[in-house]
Amino acid sequence: MNTHIYKLNEYITSGDISEEDMEKLNEAGEILRNGGLVAFPTETVYGLGGNALLKKASKDIYAAKGRPSDNPLIVHISDMDELPQLVETVPEMAAKLADSFWPGPLTMVMRKSDIVPYETTGGLDTVAVRMPEHKVANMLIKLSGVPVAAPSANISGRPSPTTAAHCIEDLSGRIEAIVDGGASSIGVESTIVDLSGEDPVLLRPGAVTLEMLRACLSRDVLLDPALEKPLDKDIRPKAPGMKYRHYAPKAPMIIIQTEYKEDLLDQEKDLTELTDCAIKNIEEKCFEGLKTGIICSDETKEIYMHEIYNKEGRLYKYRNTIEIMSAGSRMDEITIAHNLFAVLRDMDEKSVDFIVAEGISQKKLGYAIMNRMKKAAGQHVINV
Ligand code: TXA
Ligand code: MG
Repeated sequence: MNTHIYKLNEYITSGDISEEDMEKLNEAGEILRNGGLVAFPTETVYGLGGNALLKKASKDIYAAKGRPSDNPLIVHISDMDELPQLVETVPEMAAKLADSFWPGPLTMVMRKSDIVPYETTGGLDTVAVRMPEHKVANMLIKLSGVPVAAPSANISGRPSPTTAAHCIEDLSGRIEAIVDGGASSIGVESTIVDLSGEDPVLLRPGAVTLEMLRACLSRDVLLDPALEKPLDKDIRPKAPGMKYRHYAPKAPMIIIQTEYKEDLLDQEKDLTELTDCAIKNIEEKCFEGLKTGIICSDETKEIYMHEIYNKEGRLYKYRNTIEIMSAGSRMDEITIAHNLFAVLRDMDEKSVDFIVAEGISQKKLGYAIMNRMKKAAGQHVINV
């Protein structure tokens, strides 16, 4: 299959879409309506869209991604009017959350209506719905005239795509089209909250944080057990996607985690312990003859560079087999979220055999970032 690339002239996330780009989106919308698959940008990550009401389209999505078919898809809408037809009823909590966070990076799980096929929901009686904020996503869904099922547009198990180039890498030749609308701004997937029961339950952390959900609902939001520890093989998690090794680079990865303190003196001490531990682990892997990648932060990059490129450095003799990449400042989760998946993919590109990554604070958006990083590392975390 020849995958058509609709490259938009302007990478718009807000404001008006030019006439020329509207024509491209119209074509892409028609492909969706007719059952074809189109990858498109959203503010979180790129999605692989198909008509959510067609069994065949959902099946094709699973096939294109190589995704197990018990892992349900998120259904995307462009307007609140499109919600009631998809669900049994709109729970009061959903109406409240939609009011505050839609359009945006929030997905809500509700009991599904009959028009949503089980092929879309992975056999569940619930459906996950999201209204993206990205102008291109919103317009494409509107123009398609149908609700759009869209998982992240990566081959199953790989890091989610945050650019059209990532989608091309994974899905070229497997789907009808890709809309190139520039990089996704947020960079990690939407928050998922389950509203199908009595208590709201956070299934996946994202840019709408737990604190924001609790404040909006003026009540506690529970944490899905799968968030806190790896699940036993025989337990079926609420969000079936949680059980798979995910967001993962090809190379095995470990995370070195330190508690991040407010006090500046403590921070410096922590960073020394953190980098010491990382260097020790890198040294070990390099000694075994492996090509090693370090995912660090702006604050620590110099420390590693010194050890790698200085003649007296602990890693000097391995300088040709180490790749070092910063995901951003430790103080700036927004930038780290934006860069994370691209850095994981860059490590793949460099064909490293083993990755040592620094953990960051788990507060606010850091919780979502660390959730993805831990999955990428198969929960392999060393606390210092
Ligand atoms: O930001 C996002 O949510 C992106 C963009 C494209 O919108 N989409 C995305 O989809 O991340 P995906 O398929 O990669 O992740 C969807 C997650 C999976 O973990 C899946 O198990 C869960 O949502 N999910 C979907 N429907 C569900 C349901 N009815 N009940 C519980 N979990 C559900
Ligand atoms: Mg995904």
